[in-house]
Amino acid sequence: MHPIAPPLLAWYDAGHRLFPWRGIDDLYRIWVSEIMLQQTRIQTVLDRGYYDRFLERFPTVEALAAADEDAVLAAWSGLGFYRRARNLHAGAKAVVAEYDGRIPEDPAVLGTLPGIGRYTCGAILSSGRNRKLPILDGNVIRVLSRLHEVDGPIDKTATLKELWRLAEAVLPDGRPGDFNQALMDLGATVCTPTSPDCDGCPLSAGCGARAAGAQADYPQPGKRTKVTFEVRAAVMLTRDDGRFAVVRRPADGLLPNLFELPAATVGDDTTPADVAAALAGVELRNCGQVDHRFSHRHWTTHVFRGASEVGPDDVRWVTRAELSELGLPSVSRKAIEAAMGLG
Ligand code: ADE
Repeated sequence: MHPIAPPLLAWYDAGHRLFPWRGIDDLYRIWVSEIMLQQTRIQTVLDRGYYDRFLERFPTVEALAAADEDAVLAAWSGLGFYRRARNLHAGAKAVVAEYDGRIPEDPAVLGTLPGIGRYTCGAILSSGRNRKLPILDGNVIRVLSRLHEVDGPIDKTATLKELWRLAEAVLPDGRPGDFNQALMDLGATVCTPTSPDCDGCPLSAGCGARAAGAQADYPQPGKRTKVTFEVRAAVMLTRDDGRFAVVRRPADGLLPNLFELPAATVGDDTTPADVAAALAGVELRNCGQVDHRFSHRHWTTHVFRGASEVGPDDVRWVTRAELSELGLPSVSRKAIEAAMGLG
């Protein structure tokens, strides 16, 4: 057994974090958790109720497979990275159509489902079936790269290959599932990015980066993607009956098929008020601006409001309560709140 396994498991046993996806063997519930946690912090998933609400709405893989894509996106609204939800939905459909509703337990088969790469495959089957399969997420990369002083930027294939090799090499036969969870917890709570608690770390005695005083040098970052900025104008058109207009975004590009207030980009040679006026064709009141950051794009949206009985093509007239049934990204929710004076 690799020397880090006994101290890490002992540390885990002495008081690990309790999460609803741990200690269960329902692969569907574990799958949902792993997809949600891929780009969203645990606190958001748990405290804001996303995990429980999603599973209440879609308690089984069959229920998810039978759902409308809009209902799935509605349950995902606010979590971001909506492709995850679409892939999960497509994966559930494939499980029902091709595997009789049983989630494949062969990693080579599970890994063919949309959105399930090597990490997710290992996470689901090690956690739910105690299969000896490695995992490598941001936390594990940090732990292993410090432990073994892995050189090379983490966006390089050769570096990742070496990290996967290590993730496999450290896995014990006996409790690979708990071991993987422990690695993630160590990265999340002890071996943290900026101020690791090396005194409290069960692996510090064998840690290469610690011995060299080089914790801050690992992992070595990859290239940064450039951030782009965009200014937009959005209008809330409200009918006499109190309903307001939302439209579906195009099927390709950012936030595909999700809903928003009618909106357009503000070019360099125009103003938000002019763009809004062209969209609305009625007198508008300025409701301020909202800022939203996506991973590599920042939007500043100037929000306007006016009364109108007619909307753009394909408009949906909705009430505020009905928004919970739509795939509504955070940026749309913020704009709607600003238009209603709630921002
Ligand atoms: N991040 C991704 N999967 C996780 C898990 N199972 N436990 C804690 N953090 C995680």
